[in-house]
Amino acid sequence: MKNIISEIKNNVLYIAINRPAKLNALNIETLQELDLAIENAIDSELVKAIIITGVGEKAFVAGADISEIADVNEINARKFSERGQEIFDRIELCPKPVIAAVNGFALGGGFELALACHIRIVSENAKFGLPEVTLGIIPAYGGTQRLSHLIGKGRAFEMMMTGDMIDAQEAYRLGIANKVVALEELYKSSEDMLSKITSRSPFAIAQLVECVVAAFDEEENGFQVESNAFSICCKSEDFKEGTQAFLEKRKPNFTGK
Ligand code: COA
Repeated sequence: MKNIISEIKNNVLYIAINRPAKLNALNIETLQELDLAIENAIDSELVKAIIITGVGEKAFVAGADISEIADVNEINARKFSERGQEIFDRIELCPKPVIAAVNGFALGGGFELALACHIRIVSENAKFGLPEVTLGIIPAYGGTQRLSHLIGKGRAFEMMMTGDMIDAQEAYRLGIANKVVALEELYKSSEDMLSKITSRSPFAIAQLVECVVAAFDEEENGFQVESNAFSICCKSEDFKEGTQAFLEKRKPNFTGK
C-alpha cells in the first residue's frame, strides 16, 4: 500500500495514515487502502484489535484532501460522501475493537475518522475541529451525525458552525477523548487498553458493537438488538468458558466462538 503503513504486532493491526507532507490528508486512494486494510483485518484470525493513527508528530489526519474536492461536481460530491460514510461505517461496525490513537491534528474527515473508531486515545498536542464551513461545505463522512450523538446537539452545532478547533483537554471534557496522554505514551496507552479489551470475550465484544451502534440507528430497536445479542452470547463457547472459569476460580481462555 502506498498511503498507509499497516503491520500486525501481538495480534494488533496498526494502520498509520502515511502522507505526512500533506498532514495525512485523506485522498481517495488512501481511503480505498484504509478500507481494504479494515476488510482484511475483519477476516484475519491474526488480528484481534486495530489501532489507527497518523505518521509523524503533527497530524493524525488533517481532513479530506482539499485538492481533490476543490472542483467536484454535485453528482460526484454525493458519491464522495456516500463512499466515505460506507468506509467509516465499516470501521464503526468492526466486530474487533478499534482505537484511534490521535497524535496531532484531527480535522474534518480526520476527526470523522476518529469518531468512527470505538475509542479515542489522544496525545496532549491533539487538536480537533470540523472546519468545513470555512470552505463552504459541511462534514460529510458521518461527522454531523456522530459528533451530535457523542457530545450533544448544542456543542456539536458550536463546533460545526464556528469551525473552531479544540485542544485535547477540551476534547476529554466533552467526551470525545477517552484519555489524554503524552505523545510518547500514545501507543503504550492504546495497547494497554486493548490488552484488557482483548482479554475479554471477543464474541461478546462483537455483540456489544452491534448493540451500541443500534442505539443510534433509528431503523433499529436497540432493546431488541440487545436481547437478541444476549441470547446469542448465551449460546457461545465463550459464555461456557467464562462461566466455567469463574466457577473454577481461574482466568478464562476465550476463543471468540
Ligand atoms: N488537504 C490537502 N492538503 C492539506 C490538508 C488537506 N486537508 N491539510 C494540510 N494540507 C497540506 C498543506 O496544503 C501543506 O501542503 P504544501 O506544503 O504542499 O503546501 C501541508 O499539508 C502542510 O500544511 P500547512 O497548512 O502548511 O501546515 P500548518 O501547520 O501551517 O497548518 C493546518 C496546519 C492543519 C491548520 C492547516 O494545514 C489546515 O488548515 N489544513 C486544512 C484543514 C481542513 O480544512 N480540513 C478539512 C478538509 S474538508
